Amino acid sequence: MKLWEGRFAAPTAADADAFNESLSFDKKLYKADITASLAHSEMLGRCGILSDEDRLAIQSGLKAILADIQAGTLEISGQEDIHSFVENELVSRIGDAGKRLHTARSRNDQAATDFRLYVRSSAEEVVGLLKSLISSLVSLSEKYVKNIMPGYTHLRKAQPINCAQYFNAYSEMFLRDAQRFVAVRKSADVMPLGSGALAGTSYPIDREITRELLGFSEISRNSLDAVSDRDFAAEYLFACSMVMAHLSRLCEDAILYTSTEFGFWEMPDAYSTGSSIMPQKKNPDICELARGKTGRVYGHLVALLTAIKGIPLAYNKDLQEDKEGLFDAEKTVKSCLAIYAEMMRQIVPDVRRMEEAAAEDFTCATDVADYLAKKGVPFRTAHGIVGGIVRECLEKGKTLDSLTLGEYKAHSPVFEADILDVVKARNSADSRNSVGGSSVSAARAGIRSIRKRLAKLPY
Ligand code: ARG
Repeated sequence: MKLWEGRFAAPTAADADAFNESLSFDKKLYKADITASLAHSEMLGRCGILSDEDRLAIQSGLKAILADIQAGTLEISGQEDIHSFVENELVSRIGDAGKRLHTARSRNDQAATDFRLYVRSSAEEVVGLLKSLISSLVSLSEKYVKNIMPGYTHLRKAQPINCAQYFNAYSEMFLRDAQRFVAVRKSADVMPLGSGALAGTSYPIDREITRELLGFSEISRNSLDAVSDRDFAAEYLFACSMVMAHLSRLCEDAILYTSTEFGFWEMPDAYSTGSSIMPQKKNPDICELARGKTGRVYGHLVALLTAIKGIPLAYNKDLQEDKEGLFDAEKTVKSCLAIYAEMMRQIVPDVRRMEEAAAEDFTCATDVADYLAKKGVPFRTAHGIVGGIVRECLEKGKTLDSLTLGEYKAHSPVFEADILDVVKARNSADSRNSVGGSSVSAARAGIRSIRKRLAKLPY
């Protein structure tokens, strides 16, 4: 039975029903819906709007429905949406008392409340998953803090960096993501229940009671806004999008670094796949899939932003489009985070290969220019001199650390014997001791700072 069929002489067309329904996806909200209804009925009772007898019947009926759904003995089906399903089920179980549950409430404030409850706890779960991914990365940082690797700009070798500094960079991104989800939770933590369909209610309700029972921090302050505000959902999707942006960068690095061309990391067999035709292949499908899924999460953000644009005050059915994309983004982000936390725990860096690569391709050229500049040569002039040295090396097939002091002196009399230490990749990385830099002690400080912020994250 439809909650609103009284006014209609003829039934809706089957295709209209199918088009209009949201039960197929909002059934995920069953727990939130029942939790909110329990609180609403409690409030109605305390305010004298519902008799004790009705309230008790409603509450035990709702609890039984929840238990049956959780036990798998009650299938959620046959209604327009989860709100209709729970209410109809209640009425079929307890009769007239169940018909009083919807007093001083509309599906509009009910749907918004349920969705906020859901998003609020989902945001907490995502923070938890981000924390475990960051923990995996910090373990890698701790283990490889004494090792170096090449750092890249434009995907060309740039300067030697510290391995821990590399992993710390991703920890920083995921820490920002975790903070974003903490903020999303706060946005969702405002209770619209009591806003009615759009204009509030004439019943003597006490919204503070429901707020307290549902653990919301605040109640909404304008009923028109409250029933149609989906900012929190857009913020959730933006936070998901940033997680995917960050993960897709890590995916890309992992795909490159585990190739034989780079040979920096070995991907665990447990997170690799093979080819049906080429027996030798070990493919990074997991990373590629995570990278590929970024697009659909961005898509859900854009879809919601577009759905909420230009809708007249207050509630409009367009807002039912808030859920499917968010549920899919949630599933995508959660599965990617969980798989990455474990996969990163299992990657095996080849420290020798990384150190070798860090020394190739003139990665210490900047150090040579800095050496001259520190001895008084203007940096731009020094840059030109070192450019000439690199050119000479390229012509003669030499490297910066195989040139003799004599060869250096031919380019500038300022060079002394210590230049031969400066062009060692390890010394180069370790010389950048600025906060956040590539020295071992800066990377260690980075780890300490990440650990501190990780420990402060809630959930
Ligand atoms: N199923 C709807 C949603 O998901 C809730 C009902 C909205 N109310 C209405 N009058 N159509 O948003």
